[in-house]
Amino acid sequence: MSTLESILKETRSFPPSDEFRRKATVSGMEAYNTLCEEADDHYLSFWGDLAREMISWKKPFSRVFDDSNAPFFKWFDDGVLNVSHNCIDRHLPLNANKIALIFEADGGEVTRLTYAELYHRVCQFANGLKSLGIQKGDRVVIYMPMVVEAIVAMQACARIGAIHSVVFGGFSAGAVRDRIQDAGAVAVITANEGLRGGKTVPLKATVDEALALEGCDSVKNVIVYQRTNGGAHWVEGRDIWWHKLTEGQSEHCEPEWMNAEDPLFILYTSGSTGKPKGIQHSSAGYLLGAANSFRWVFDYKPNDVFWCTADVGWITGHSYVCYGPLANGATQVIFEGVPTYPDASRFWSMIEKHKVTTFYTAPTAIRSLIKLGADLPKQYDLSSLRLLGTVGEPINPEAWMWYYEVVGGGRCPIVDTWWQTETGSAMIAPLPGAVATKPGSCTLPLPGVIADIVDESGAPVEPGRGGFLVIKKPFPSLVRTIWGDADRFKKTYFPEEFNGQYYLAGDSANRDENGYFWIMGRIDDVLNVSGHRLGTMEIESALVANPLVAEAAVVGKPHDVKGEAVVAFVVLKGNRPEGDDAKKIATELKNWVAHEIGKIAQPDDIRFGENLPKTRSGKIMRRLLRSIAKGEEISQDVSTLENPHILSQLQQGV
Ligand code: PRX
Repeated sequence: MSTLESILKETRSFPPSDEFRRKATVSGMEAYNTLCEEADDHYLSFWGDLAREMISWKKPFSRVFDDSNAPFFKWFDDGVLNVSHNCIDRHLPLNANKIALIFEADGGEVTRLTYAELYHRVCQFANGLKSLGIQKGDRVVIYMPMVVEAIVAMQACARIGAIHSVVFGGFSAGAVRDRIQDAGAVAVITANEGLRGGKTVPLKATVDEALALEGCDSVKNVIVYQRTNGGAHWVEGRDIWWHKLTEGQSEHCEPEWMNAEDPLFILYTSGSTGKPKGIQHSSAGYLLGAANSFRWVFDYKPNDVFWCTADVGWITGHSYVCYGPLANGATQVIFEGVPTYPDASRFWSMIEKHKVTTFYTAPTAIRSLIKLGADLPKQYDLSSLRLLGTVGEPINPEAWMWYYEVVGGGRCPIVDTWWQTETGSAMIAPLPGAVATKPGSCTLPLPGVIADIVDESGAPVEPGRGGFLVIKKPFPSLVRTIWGDADRFKKTYFPEEFNGQYYLAGDSANRDENGYFWIMGRIDDVLNVSGHRLGTMEIESALVANPLVAEAAVVGKPHDVKGEAVVAFVVLKGNRPEGDDAKKIATELKNWVAHEIGKIAQPDDIRFGENLPKTRSGKIMRRLLRSIAKGEEISQDVSTLENPHILSQLQQGV
């Protein structure tokens, strides 16, 4: 409720300037409303027309939508296309020499790649994959640093119809193993090492560690891009260097023609159980969502220099690095490093250097850069910028205002884009030449997105009241299923409570009197740490896997840079530790979680108790744990608590 009240006090509103509006693809509210009405009145032909306009089809579709097996919806399903062909080949007749990628390495070296060069690189690598026997439908795990080759690898998979599953380079061996196993991957594409912030990241060693674990027998080959001079342990017959694989391969590769509904990729994301969900996206519907939202939300112009700072390990790096911008023939910046290396002006100096027009990043990055140097942007010429964006979590109005004034010079609209791994593309976000923005609100749904906020019975709630964010009609870029778990897909996203009709996003939200959406947070046991989704159960399972730990409960607490931080309440098998002992074990457990899942999941705070607060029926009272984590006085009713004395133990920090 406190979040709800505070955001409702935000009354500032920023309409686009006349100049911005005049030049915009969707110009003015009338144009936006017309599109929304078109979508409302003729939903299927609205999407069908967009699919014909935005996608090059090898064979056109004759049917827009099929809901005969709801909620396993199909879009454009007798159409034939290839996503990589749409992202690269179709730009060659007119734009072969246009720059596709401006790559800036961790150390500052810059490489530019034209669409023709990208085409040749993708084709050679695709031919290399084929030479290993990899074919349509095979799953390939990509565990790469943020380099050009990561995009080449994804595009090459799309080209030959292999289903990629990118695993973020910060995940540990255990997480890599789980994903390989669940997807049944036949190959892993990695680099010997990555480079981030002047340090090397041992990617190949982590893959080796993962493959040495049980259950990875499906992997026949590991393809290793040589990013540094560091050596790599080698398994003969399994491992092959990227440069050897592509040597002598043809620079042309006929795309594998795919059905619209053939899976393009799987991307794992956290849910409320310990097991990550393999979010499976389609070829055509996903591409349409990524391409069209890129055009609308980022008001794409052919001369733009777009920069999305997301890693390809996340959905944002799929839709707004690898697919959306390329499908539009855009020029974009790819950055290997981190925003704070060599210092906290890296983003600003890169915007100046590459004359970036459109900059898209996460609130957590903005907050950390404010902390490290709120005046730094003023030392750079940021006048090339015309549009800013954020994604991943709600942005607090203070950070929004700083972004708007200091980075954007008060001239650039900010598109706060709400969406998810599951939705594949931006769902609620201002079309910047039309919709006035409000700091902290993702504003209004894109035309064709029928979003609403409902109560437990599925009835819409009054303005200002919180409720469940739902999308009431299926849309092309929606997740098709959870890989290997159709039942979980149905239960999670199209629950019985809403008659299986609405897509349940898993967020709570409210709408103000202008219909603007304000996202309040997750309704499930999912945390949002630095814009990354982490399941509390996943971290709990990792903790309990430690031989010292008997029981663990994980909650989030507000954090001024990360948004949310992980707090773990732990019961050890032996006695409750105190003093230096407690400190030592807490450090050990933090490192353990980093090793089991990845550094992003590491708890900031570990508290030890002889037990956890439970109801008489044995349920952990998470509500209470959340209050303790925040350092709040316990005002809740504790009469149902079996063991009230342990509250004081858990209130003590280590
Ligand atoms: O809680 C919402 C939050 O991030 C969740 C989706 O996480 P993920 O699948 O990892 O994708 C992140 C990048 C698209 C959502 O359920 N979220 C995402 N964008 C916003 C947001 N919360 C508030 N405002 C946003 N703009």
